[in-house]
Amino acid sequence: MRSYSWRGLLATSLGLFAAGTNAQTGTTDLGTLLAGQKNLTTFNTLIQKYPEILLQLPSYNGVTILAPNNDAFNKIPYSSLNDAFKANNQDVITNVLEYHILQGTHLAAQLVPGTPTFIPTLLTSPEWSNVTGGQVVQNIAQAGNVVVFVSGQGTRSTLTQADLKFTGGVVQIIDSLLIPPTNITQTTQAFNLTSFEGALYAGDKINSTSNTKDVTIFAPNNEAFQVLGPAISSMTSDQIAEIMDYHTVDQIVYSTGLTNGTKLLSAQGENITIRHAGNNVYINSAQLLQADILIANGVIHMIDNVLNPQGPGAKPNPAITSQAPVYAGAASVTNLPFTSDIPCSTKCPVTATPSSSAAAKATPTSTSVFTSSSKGVGAPMARETGLHAAGLMVALGGAVMLL
Ligand SMILES: *[C@@H]1O[C@H](CO)[C@@H](O)[C@H](O)[C@H]1NC(C)=O
Ligand SMILES: *[C@@H]1O[C@H](CO)[C@@H](O)[C@H](O)[C@H]1NC(C)=O
Ligand SMILES: *[C@@H]1O[C@H](CO)[C@@H](O)[C@H](O)[C@H]1NC(C)=O
Ligand SMILES: *[C@@H]1O[C@H](CO)[C@@H](O)[C@H](O)[C@H]1NC(C)=O
Ligand SMILES: *[C@@H]1O[C@H](CO)[C@@H](O)[C@H](O)[C@H]1NC(C)=O
Ligand SMILES: *[C@@H]1O[C@H](CO)[C@@H](O)[C@H](O)[C@H]1NC(C)=O
Ligand SMILES: *[C@@H]1O[C@H](CO)[C@@H](O)[C@H](O)[C@H]1NC(C)=O
Repeated sequence: MRSYSWRGLLATSLGLFAAGTNAQTGTTDLGTLLAGQKNLTTFNTLIQKYPEILLQLPSYNGVTILAPNNDAFNKIPYSSLNDAFKANNQDVITNVLEYHILQGTHLAAQLVPGTPTFIPTLLTSPEWSNVTGGQVVQNIAQAGNVVVFVSGQGTRSTLTQADLKFTGGVVQIIDSLLIPPTNITQTTQAFNLTSFEGALYAGDKINSTSNTKDVTIFAPNNEAFQVLGPAISSMTSDQIAEIMDYHTVDQIVYSTGLTNGTKLLSAQGENITIRHAGNNVYINSAQLLQADILIANGVIHMIDNVLNPQGPGAKPNPAITSQAPVYAGAASVTNLPFTSDIPCSTKCPVTATPSSSAAAKATPTSTSVFTSSSKGVGAPMARETGLHAAGLMVALGGAVMLL
């Protein structure tokens, strides 16, 4: 791939140079491209108003700009960002838009249906992301040529116009803003993983888990804690801490890494084993319900059973839909264990009666393929995350001029 001068790209995008077509490559510069797209006037205005979005660029061999169309800015799917855009909050706007710039040139045609890819972006500020190499966006090609980008809080943006090439990269137009992945507490609340969140507080693990770079968390859903009841809720803080550590892996493993037979070393010290049976994926004996929930410092995979570090050899029985609990003395309760351990400040989190706002966020768009409410997600999940080895990641690296 050809190297390019980022400053030149910036200058033309700002209209400082005469814009036009590059005689050598036959491609348009970014400024001309954006100016010619009636659906990108808001995005173009923001790029011109906040040129640091482009100025903070390190050097990459080509970029992919996921440009939200005008409609996208009128329906930002996360209210705190909505307020920030309305208030012209420069810090928020620049970081959010840097999350819309992917490292490398990614063309729609390179996508393999069913295989998700996790593409690093230019979002690297530690106030926004603790993912080494830049926070990622999940990209999925679905059947019927539907290309989707999944970002924080399960937000899904659909590609509406593909592969607009410019000198130095490609623009892909999307129908809604990407949301930078939020921290553990904000994400567990959005996905109704409140017993798990509470257990992190009960085990005094919330700060360490949320401030560690590059983590994978297997988060049992609320039902998984409810079937255990006192078998877990009566434990000491140290015992709960050990269990929480067994649900944490100190490296990022997206669904594509959860291959059959994989063993992952947990922060507790015992391994976790991944097994596939039919279309289902199991973590020890727990079924994977929803994979790849991006968070500020890694990824959460939602599972249907609490893992037990004292029984790391637990295996699933794929013939039954609901796996048995792996703790002695399990006795089902109707309340949500550990939710009373969540400190209640200005905005109280979900307790015994889950709030409807959590429900709204848990299924952010009507096109969501995943639902967190039933085992039925196993099949579509397995299809979407089908673990083919092929990847579309364009190799990064290589010298790029920064003039
Ligand atoms: C502009 O966006 C609207 C939806 O927001 C879409 O219906 C229309 O086709 C788009 N126009 C172009 C030229 O892409
Ligand atoms: C990243 O980690 C640091 C501590 O190392 C923490 O202060 C910061 O809030 C974290 N960022 C996010 C987005 O959670
Ligand atoms: C997550 O972010 C929210 C909003 O910034 C903050 O109030 C909360 O303390 C953070 N959680 C942790 C565990 O740092
Ligand atoms: C977690 O961090 C917050 C903010 O940094 C602090 O107020 C709180 O005391 C810490 N909690 C624990 C249990 O260390
Ligand atoms: C974890 O699995 C790895 C790879 O199979 C193995 O080398 C290691 O000994 C295992 N660790 C434990 C604590 O079982
Ligand atoms: C996973 O591996 C096990 C052991 O090798 C094998 O029996 C099983 O069929 C594999 N599952 C799938 C879905 O390929
Ligand atoms: C949250 O979990 C509780 C307990 O399992 C359940 O009753 C409730 O319906 C869930 N809420 C959502 C929004 O999924």
